[in-house]
Amino acid sequence: MDDKRSPTEGMVDYAGNSLPQKHSIQSRADDVRKMADKVLASSNEIHIADYGCGTGANAILSVKPAVKSFTDRYPDRSIFVHHVDQAENDWNTLFDCAAGQDGYAKLSSRIRPVASVGSFFSMAAPTSSIDVGTSFGASHWLSSQPVISAKGTLWFADLKGEARLELKEQAQRDWETFLALRLRELRKDGRLMVSTLGAIPDTSEANGICSSGRHTYRAMYDVAEAMVNDGLISEPALRDFIMPIWFMSKEDALEPFKRNMELADGFVIERAEVAPAQQNPKDIFADLINAPQEYAASYKGFVRSFTESTFRQSLLRGETNQATETLLNEFYDRFEALIKEGMGKYAFEIWLLTIELRKQ
Ligand SMILES: C[S@@+](CC[C@H](N)C(=O)[O-])C[C@H]1O[C@@H](n2cnc3c(N)ncnc32)[C@H](O)[C@@H]1O
Repeated sequence: MDDKRSPTEGMVDYAGNSLPQKHSIQSRADDVRKMADKVLASSNEIHIADYGCGTGANAILSVKPAVKSFTDRYPDRSIFVHHVDQAENDWNTLFDCAAGQDGYAKLSSRIRPVASVGSFFSMAAPTSSIDVGTSFGASHWLSSQPVISAKGTLWFADLKGEARLELKEQAQRDWETFLALRLRELRKDGRLMVSTLGAIPDTSEANGICSSGRHTYRAMYDVAEAMVNDGLISEPALRDFIMPIWFMSKEDALEPFKRNMELADGFVIERAEVAPAQQNPKDIFADLINAPQEYAASYKGFVRSFTESTFRQSLLRGETNQATETLLNEFYDRFEALIKEGMGKYAFEIWLLTIELRKQ
């Protein structure tokens, strides 16, 4: 694997397969507006940032309530909207959407969309510049592909012993880094809302937590294991592969504030919760449950959109580009067939972690 690439670089067809993420963003729109309303302008310029913005309509929906809050209250100020994501993001579509019918650019001639290109694990905006920050469905991605061997699983929630501790340390380091950077970028009394997939305590689960998407990641493992048995993936490749994600519980999310005094002193925690998503929390594709073909196809498209770039670089990387394409297609076709056969058995459950912080 090319170590310079982060695991999410080159996410594919995201805009077309991100309805569940759109619902999550919509469910927080009023909260973003209320949060922004509390921030008083401190200069002639207002700066809004969205970390891990992605592309298309979602990237616009994330920030629009904050932009609207400032254009309503300060019609004469300049507003800079910093969209933070990696170089491979579909920036053209994002800026087309910003200027389009439902975009925010038409709210005022003083609005300037800005691309902040690179990882959110480094400075994404000047020190003490950001009035309002948002981050949706992005901060659960780790900064690099974990180097951890484990049998029987490919994701954090089912890891055991040392392997789990190691990944947790990596996830905590990343989350702490993310927070420390945002603390530097926010200006005094600026606010940040982070919302992403979460996990809740559950004693019936192996590690005492029940995580969003648990059936999905287990189904992915079953497909990968079957491909090992059929000689399509090597056993070491599966053993050495772990998805570069960690869906935090509320306790996980608050840990850095207990050990890092800079964060504890710098931020007021206005809100911290993990709650079922507002729409279809027990299965994000519940609306399609009576249409097996569509259910399985939508489910596959959704999963492919956020896993393919990672699989392409590691688990399903073939000797040639052609071999990689063949492996990817085989994996997702098998995944779709499994989902269709199981109908509801692999329901994608979703809990949303939401953290709102104010810099003091
Ligand atoms: C699942 S998408 C979410 C996009 C959008 N915020 C939404 O909710 O629909 C995750 C986004 O986070 C971005 N991302 C992941 N890790 C990142 C990092 N280290 N730095 C910047 N962006 C990152 C990915 O490129 C991707 O666009």
